[in-house]
Amino acid sequence: MNTDLFSLQGRTALVTGASSGLGNHFARVLADAGARVVVGARRVERLESLVNDIQAAGGEAHAVAMDVTDGDSVTAAFESAEAVFGHVDVLVNNAGVADPKWFVDIDEASWDFMMDTNLKGVWRVARECCRRLIDAGKPGAVVNLSSVLGLGVQGMQSHYSASKAAVAHMTHAMASELWRYGIRVNALAPGYFKTEINADFFDSEKGQQYVKRIPPRRLGTLDELTGPLLLLASDASSYMSGVVLPVDGGHLWGSL
Ligand SMILES: NC(=O)c1ccc[n+]([C@@H]2O[C@H](COP(=O)([O-])OP(=O)(O)OC[C@H]3O[C@@H](n4cnc5c(N)ncnc54)[C@H](OP(=O)(O)O)[C@@H]3O)[C@@H](O)[C@H]2O)c1
Repeated sequence: MNTDLFSLQGRTALVTGASSGLGNHFARVLADAGARVVVGARRVERLESLVNDIQAAGGEAHAVAMDVTDGDSVTAAFESAEAVFGHVDVLVNNAGVADPKWFVDIDEASWDFMMDTNLKGVWRVARECCRRLIDAGKPGAVVNLSSVLGLGVQGMQSHYSASKAAVAHMTHAMASELWRYGIRVNALAPGYFKTEINADFFDSEKGQQYVKRIPPRRLGTLDELTGPLLLLASDASSYMSGVVLPVDGGHLWGSL
């Protein structure tokens, strides 16, 4: 039996949105699994501190300034990644934003902000990564960040939900086109994990009440995303592509 199934030794991984929350955790996990990790986001000083942590733990990491809404910035980030660590063959397409608003209150600017980051940003970064892998004749694994809100709905999250549902379905479509190049494409659909994106809500009385509706009656911990991420990023999922994997404490199928 191969007990090294989840190893990422020899791989180069790029994590977008690594300056906080899930992305910061994912970068540490990938480095622990042996990958050389490129961490991208706009807040570079936070990335530098993450790189220091990873290096202090014996890993390899490199920070790149990256705005996923800007094509030139994405291209420059991949150039920098390749110059330092070689081709990116594991992509964690994690950068994302939220902007809770009732459907009738969403204005054009909020709609564009949401879609440009959560959907077009995921497309832009994945396209850059996949083009480079195809040109180099190398296989790879892409992990997109969808959400349980890409599979279900909640008040004040209609455009967030729409963006995450689109990421889920783009994952299906990418999987169908890219297998022929040895590129697998899957998505994580996390339930609720307290990060900067939702801390205000979960610190509120309303947020605390909401948590009681999740079957385990608690939020997820970042460690509970470690196994699912490594599964999709590594050869442990060598026969999986097009999967949108909920990690949500059974929330989606909670009792009505
Ligand atoms: N937390 C949850 O419960 C949960 C549940 C389901 C799905 N998710 C998804 O998981 C992903 C990570 O969320 P999180 O909870 O970790 O939120 P977070 O702590 O707010 O982190 C979001 C990250 O995205 C980056 N980002 C935002 N806009 C960007 C841009 N234009 N270019 C580059 N990076 C950008 C931010 O970095 P900079 O501001 O430094 O650029 C930050 O590092 C998101 O896609 C989110 O939708 C989260």
